[in-house]
Amino acid sequence: MQKNKEKNTIKNFTNKIICGDATETLKKIPDASVDTVFVDPPFNLKKKYANSDDKKSSEEYLEWCYSWIDECVRVLKPSGTLFLHNIPKWLVYFANHLNEKKMFFRHWISWEAMGAPLGTTLLASHYGILYYTKDEKKHKFYNLRIPHKRCRVCKEIQADYGGKKISMHPFGTVLTDVWTDLHRIRHVNRRDKHPNQLPEPLLERLLLMTTEVNDVVLDPLVGAGTTALAAKRLGRQYIGIDNSQEYVKLTNEKLAEIKVEKSNGYVYQYNKKGQTKTSVNKNFAKEHTIRDDDIVIDKKKLKDEKGSLYYDFEMKKTKK
Ligand SMILES: C[S@@+](CC[C@H](N)C(=O)[O-])C[C@H]1O[C@@H](n2cnc3c(N)ncnc32)[C@H](O)[C@@H]1O
Repeated sequence: MQKNKEKNTIKNFTNKIICGDATETLKKIPDASVDTVFVDPPFNLKKKYANSDDKKSSEEYLEWCYSWIDECVRVLKPSGTLFLHNIPKWLVYFANHLNEKKMFFRHWISWEAMGAPLGTTLLASHYGILYYTKDEKKHKFYNLRIPHKRCRVCKEIQADYGGKKISMHPFGTVLTDVWTDLHRIRHVNRRDKHPNQLPEPLLERLLLMTTEVNDVVLDPLVGAGTTALAAKRLGRQYIGIDNSQEYVKLTNEKLAEIKVEKSNGYVYQYNKKGQTKTSVNKNFAKEHTIRDDDIVIDKKKLKDEKGSLYYDFEMKKTKK
């Protein structure tokens, strides 16, 4: 435990990208001060990072991961959420470790990401995101919806909902734990100079699900800065840590360009040159982030399956 920890308040760390070792820097952060932690460590797959190796023995790798996982659990508020992103091989160990630490398992989110065929194995086609909370009941959770799947050509909604399309929700279906609508940034021209940059909509979704404006979001292995960018855009406070000066500089340059707004929707912001690609209507998430409001649906409008129906709704405060 850090000698001067008592002097530290969380304000000393927020809205900064700190260049340093993850575990050592985490040790300086006060107990129970962070709302949501997201960590996407190197997967021990021999990738080339600017200032760290990615080829440890299994024992060394797990020992290293547990060193920052334990600190992440410590800094989480009692109402806090922890997300760990990795390949299933490592997540099963992480889950076991977190269960032993009496954290509460909520979900294994499967994020579809097609790998390369490796021979006599199943073709790996998802990353996992372990979703744990510190408290079984007192955690923040906001229901999000994603658009109903539509035919790309005729724009008709594909699912029949058992013949009950009339009852479908105009904002889309409830989010499941299998995510197939967010995509890896594969093209080298669309990514920053970093071997493993996640798409911002992935982080935006996780943060919208578990945080409110001004909440503190921490990523101790922040890489090209995706978590911090999503947090800033959504009006959350961020703390990023990385041991590479190069990635810290890159993240700070991108952060300087980000304006605080409610949501970026599903617009992929590929890199600091501003290359973007819209995968779904960019206003979608702005309109479809359901918080304390109920939606009053004009059922007659649901007969019309055109995209425009998504914007024809009225928000009313939920009666508590
Ligand atoms: C998989 S990348 C994170 C990518 C990030 N999620 C993004 O979207 O850009 C992991 C990061 O951990 C950093 N890293 C590795 N070992 C570290 C350590 N001991 N302390 C701090 N950072 C470290 C690497 O520099 C790398 O940027």
